[in-house]
Amino acid sequence: MSSATAIAHPNIALIKYWGNRDQRLRLPVNGSISFNLGSLSTRTRVTFDAARGEDAFILNGRPVHGEGLARVAALLDIVRDMAGLSQRAEVHSENDFPTGAGIASSAAAFAALALASSAAAGLDLSEAERSRLARLGSGSASRSVPGGFVEWQAGDSDETSYAFSIAPPDHWALTDCIAVVSSVHKPTGSTQGHVLADTSPLQAARVADAPRRLDLCRRAVLARDFEALAAVSEQDSDIMHAVMMTSAPPLFYWQPATLRVMQSVRAWRGGGLPVCYTIDAGPNVHVICPQDAALRVSERLKALEGVERVLTATVGGPARLVVDR
Ligand code: PMV
Repeated sequence: MSSATAIAHPNIALIKYWGNRDQRLRLPVNGSISFNLGSLSTRTRVTFDAARGEDAFILNGRPVHGEGLARVAALLDIVRDMAGLSQRAEVHSENDFPTGAGIASSAAAFAALALASSAAAGLDLSEAERSRLARLGSGSASRSVPGGFVEWQAGDSDETSYAFSIAPPDHWALTDCIAVVSSVHKPTGSTQGHVLADTSPLQAARVADAPRRLDLCRRAVLARDFEALAAVSEQDSDIMHAVMMTSAPPLFYWQPATLRVMQSVRAWRGGGLPVCYTIDAGPNVHVICPQDAALRVSERLKALEGVERVLTATVGGPARLVVDR
């Protein structure tokens, strides 16, 4: 029996990933930039065991079957191939953030799984190799492998599509105040969403302009220029949602409270408060601000009609191995 445990954080994209050029390998049509959400984490233990007949996946104390188990087993198959191993595994995973709060857990889940499973299989992978492996489970998981502010270069092959840090966690004290407006499970997940992206006539324009937005975002992060970051990340999120809303069938993730938060954030920024929004494949709004404004921003968000609760996270480190409890 061999076992390893890893911790990884979810991440929030400032420049979004939406659409693949290769669905199976999850090679994205454009690069993306994110930061890790340090105060939220997933802890995963993988144990390969010669006595096991099949893989098992236990999430927050409950066995997972069907599609959830199949995605985990598919990643374990890749690791077994790489390591020349045939043993089945037991995977125990726990999120310290509320499930159903609309926080994408797949990024943290597959980053932690890639690290724990490769270590338990005796592989000694580089950070880029771990990022590539995590990408095969969930594209955005590639960005939860390195620490701090991260860029995932699209690449054009399995070897060249991986993420790396562009700045460490302490480079810029930003906070993500997540305004939860609905805890209901999203109807269309991102794996199916990526497949639909090309059915929108706007996707080609979104992808063609992505290098410009990536460049603006990278510079804004490196220069800690909040105004510039706010402009480009809100535009990028709005463009992605325009693609979602115009795909066939359309994906309409916003709810009335989503728009209320977006408009309030813009008005607050107009009034001098440094704050901006970005939204993933769901109705909840990630409201980004410098850490010293986070308390004020959270209080204002909580006072808005339709905001159920606000979770906050600062910039976090890389996925890492930990000693078993
Ligand atoms: O990694 P996936 O397949 O869950 O896709 C993530 C897609 C978005 O969250 C909407 C954007 C992003 O870049 O994280």
